Amino acid sequence: MQFAVHARDRIDSTQSEVQRMAAEGAPEGTVVTARHQRAGRGRRGHEWWDAPGESLLVSVLLRPSAPPAAVPQLSLVGGLAVAEALATAGVAARIRWPNDLLVDGRKVCGILAEASSDGAGRVQHVILGIGINLNQTEFPGALAERATSLRLVTGRVHDAGAVLAVVLAHLERRYAAWQAGGFAALRAAWLGHALLPGQIVRLPDGTRGVGEDVGEDGTLLARASDGRLVAVVSGEAIEEAPAHAAGH
Ligand code: BTN
Repeated sequence: MQFAVHARDRIDSTQSEVQRMAAEGAPEGTVVTARHQRAGRGRRGHEWWDAPGESLLVSVLLRPSAPPAAVPQLSLVGGLAVAEALATAGVAARIRWPNDLLVDGRKVCGILAEASSDGAGRVQHVILGIGINLNQTEFPGALAERATSLRLVTGRVHDAGAVLAVVLAHLERRYAAWQAGGFAALRAAWLGHALLPGQIVRLPDGTRGVGEDVGEDGTLLARASDGRLVAVVSGEAIEEAPAHAAGH
């Protein structure tokens, strides 16, 4: 895949910009970055806060030939690519299923996969959005408890362009493997960077469970309090328990 990186200064959201470009026929590998987003968005309708120039804010246009049911796997693919990229910077981040990256329980990266399908239900494109906290030394309000940055973890300043290059290199490799063999081809590597087993999750019925494993399709297998093993699809709304509150 060829990446074409379009660097913006201030923008509403890199997701929205890629969406606009995709509507005009932009090819797979179109990438938009920004120094600041006025309306950055996270999963489940949350906003994504950034301090101008201190985060890596990036969206990547993918045009996979995959059924809609496989699309949520792409956020796991993205999580693995970022975990591997951060490892090269000396940061051992763990993936909280489906796709938050945490260091010592604090969120350092969030990932958002937004898909668009045509009238016949075929996937037209997926926009993979990645927000990495790079150089913040403090976070406002409730984020102070929940978020961290590469700088806080490593004690040094990180260059957005350099981190982007490493993230894209890992994404290219893992995306190719996923296209060839599905999530099954990445599952072992993904588990190697995951919080599982033991991640506390809120199950679709509202009760708490303990994540045990992930299936070959990216589904989370969690043990409910009554002993049942519950399968949770990554596209499903799922709230983490307070101990693992999101970093946005
Ligand atoms: C989450 O953890 O809720 C996902 C956060 C995703 C944030 C990134 S920043 C770049 C891209 N543009 C957006 O508006 N959101 C994603």
